Amino acid sequence: MTATPATPKAKKPSSPRAAKKAAPTPPPMFSFKAGTGAVAKVTAGGPVPAKGCDVAAVAVYKNGELSAAAKRADIDTEGLVANACKADKNLGNSGSCRVVFNTAKAGAPVYVLVGLDEADKLSIKSLRKATGLACDAVKGLKPAKVFFALNQEVPKKSTDKETAALCARTITESFYSFSACKKQDDDAAAPPAFELACTKSTLAAVEKGAAIGHAIGNGMQLTKDLGNLPGNICTPNYLAETAKALAKQYKLGVEVLDHKKMEALGMFSLLSVGKASSEPPKLIVLKYNGAKDSKEAPVVLVGKGITFDTGGISLKPGEGMDEMKYDMCGAASVLGTMKAAAEMKLALNLIVVVPTAENMPAGNASKPGDVVVSMSGQTIEILNTDAEGRLILCDALTYVERFNPAAVVDVATLTGACIVALGHVNTGLFSPDDDLANELFNAGQNALDTAWRMPLDEEYHEQLKSNFADMANIGGPPAGSVTAACFLQKYTKAYSWAHLDIAGTAWHSGKAKGASGRPVPMLAEFVMKRAKA
Ligand code: BES
Ligand code: MN
Ligand code: ZN
Repeated sequence: MTATPATPKAKKPSSPRAAKKAAPTPPPMFSFKAGTGAVAKVTAGGPVPAKGCDVAAVAVYKNGELSAAAKRADIDTEGLVANACKADKNLGNSGSCRVVFNTAKAGAPVYVLVGLDEADKLSIKSLRKATGLACDAVKGLKPAKVFFALNQEVPKKSTDKETAALCARTITESFYSFSACKKQDDDAAAPPAFELACTKSTLAAVEKGAAIGHAIGNGMQLTKDLGNLPGNICTPNYLAETAKALAKQYKLGVEVLDHKKMEALGMFSLLSVGKASSEPPKLIVLKYNGAKDSKEAPVVLVGKGITFDTGGISLKPGEGMDEMKYDMCGAASVLGTMKAAAEMKLALNLIVVVPTAENMPAGNASKPGDVVVSMSGQTIEILNTDAEGRLILCDALTYVERFNPAAVVDVATLTGACIVALGHVNTGLFSPDDDLANELFNAGQNALDTAWRMPLDEEYHEQLKSNFADMANIGGPPAGSVTAACFLQKYTKAYSWAHLDIAGTAWHSGKAKGASGRPVPMLAEFVMKRAKA
C-alpha cells in the first residue's frame, strides 16, 4: 500500500510585521512674553526667572567674570554663583558647565552655569557649544520650565535675532531622540518649555529669531526621523506619503509620479535603478508658493532618495551595510528644508523634487555593462550598479528644467570618495557658478553647517568616457566625488546648478549612530537669504 504523500498545508505567506511607524518627537516649546511670561520676567535690572521656573541657564566667563544674567543669579542665590566660579577655576572656560542648587531660597530655580571663555572673543560656534552643554545639564534635571539666558550673550558679528535663532535651533536639536522603533519609549517625557531671555527692547528680535530657530530645528527633526527609519518602513512610498502629509499641513502642491508616468517621460535611467525591487520607484514633487509674484522663478532642491542601497549586482560588502538606509538623507534634507521654509512662510517660490527607489540585486536587476537611455536622451553605460545615485538624479535634474528655476541645488549621499576627501566635517560643494557656490558656502558658514568647494574642471570629464554609450556611470578611483559631480553636470546645462555631496555629513556612525539633520541649516539659510524680507 502506497501512502499518498501528504500534501503540505499551504503555508500562509509570512508577513513580517514592520515596527511601528515613527511618531515625531515633540519639540520643546518656546514662549516669549517679556514681563508676563510664565518662565521669564523682565525687570528694570533685566530678565530674571519667574516664579515656577525650575531651571535657569546663564553664562559665565573666564576668570570668574559673570554675565549680566549670572550677576542677577548671584544676587538671587546670595553669592552662590560667584562662589562656584571661585571654587572651580575651570568654570568659565568653553566646555565647562556646572549646576548650582539655590539653597538660599526655597522654590528658587536651579542654576546651570555654562562657560563662554572671553566675552570680547565670543563666537556663534562657542555659543552653540555652550547651548548644547546647557541642554545636556537641563535634561538631567528633568524640569518643566526652563529660563534660558545664553542668547543674551550676543557675539560681535551677530544680532539679537540671529543669536536667538541659533540658540532656539540648538535647543530643539538637543532634545531630539528617536524611539519610534522601540517597544518602550524611554524618552516619552515631553521636553521642557523653554523661554529665551529678552528685554523690552529686544523682545521683537528674540521672538522672531526663536521662531526661525524653532522652524529650522523642526525641519531637522523631520530629516533625522526619515533618515533614522529603517529601510523596511521608509520606502519610496513612505517618502511619498510624507510629502503628501507635508502638503496637507502647509497647503503645498504635491504630485507623485509613478512608474507609468516616468516611463512616459523617458526616465529609463531612474527606472533602471528601482526595477529589481518590490518597492516601486517614484518621483515626488512638492511646491511651495511663497513669493508675491506666483510666477517668480523658483529655487529647486533635488534630493537623492535611495531608501536602501545594497549596491545592486555590484553588491556592497556586508559589514556596515545597514548604514545604507541613510542613502535617502538627501531626500530627507530637502523635505526638512521645505518644512522649515513653509513654517517660516518665506517669501519665495520653492520646489522640492525627490527621485526615490530601492537599489536591490535580483534576476531582473541592471548588470554591469547595461546601457540605458536617460530622459535627456543621453545614453549611459552602467559599469557599476552601485553608482546608482547619479542614475536617479540625472533624470530628476532633466525633469526640473520645466520649472525655469532660478537655481537648482541637488543634495545626495553620493560618494564614499567624498568622505575620503573631506571627512565628516564639511559637505562637498560643487558648482560651475561662482555666485551660487559662494552663496551656499556663506550660508553654511553662517548656519554652522559648513561645506567646502570642490573642483569641476573639464579634464575630469575625460574619466567618464565610454566606448559604448554617451557616458559611463563611473570614472574610476581617482577623484571619485568629482567625477560623480561631473556626471550630474552633464544634465544641468539649462540652469544655474550646485551639487552637495553629504555622504560624510548626513549621519554619524559608531556609538552615536544617527542622522545629523544636515544640511538643513545650510539650505534653510540659503533660502532665507533668497526670500524677500
Ligand atoms: N550611497 C553610496 C555612497 C556612500 C557610500 C555614501 C558610503 C556614504 C557612505 C553610493 O551609491 C555609492 O555606492 N557610491 C559608490 C560609487 C562608486 C561605485 C563609483 C562608492 O562611493 O563607492
Ligand atoms: Mn551605491
Ligand atoms: Zn547610494
